[in-house]
Amino acid sequence: MNTFFNLTIAILVVSSLTAGCRCGSDTSAPPRNSSSSSSSAEISDNPESKLLARGKLVYSNNCISCHNRDPKLPGSLGPEIFGSTSELLTARILRAEYPAGYTPKRQSHAMPALPHLAADIDALTAYLNKN
Ligand code: HEC
Repeated sequence: MNTFFNLTIAILVVSSLTAGCRCGSDTSAPPRNSSSSSSSAEISDNPESKLLARGKLVYSNNCISCHNRDPKLPGSLGPEIFGSTSELLTARILRAEYPAGYTPKRQSHAMPALPHLAADIDALTAYLNKN
């Protein structure tokens, strides 16, 4: 009886993990316009678009397991985070805290600190605030 119960739980856990995993499905690369070489060179040399592309990559690799692929929408676990300031991102990502006086969108504490992303806060800020 007990074994049957444990097996059922194990199957449920495994199937929910597989169902929830959207890992590795992001094949999107920054669009390239191969036909007009001069304008595409302008785009890729622009430091601002490099920062945005970096931010999008970091977001896809580290955030969309919980937040929505579209940061303007709520995700599977985390809230919508479009428009986050660099101060909020720094506190939340590096220290799992909020800036003084900030009212969190959720009262849960499910998001771990991700301090290895310290060098990418600027890129994430740019991506999460682009029009
Ligand atoms: C393990 C799941 C998970 C991951 C991965 C994750 N988050 Fe979160 N995030 C959450 C949850 C859940 C909340 C709501 C508060 C809480 O429970 O910690 C949250 C809250 C936030 C908030 C605060 C929103 C607000 O205004 O109150 C920001 C900003 C944020 N996340 C940004 C990010 C960024 C950027 C990444 C990727 C670098 C990321 N998170 C990765 C789950 C996650």
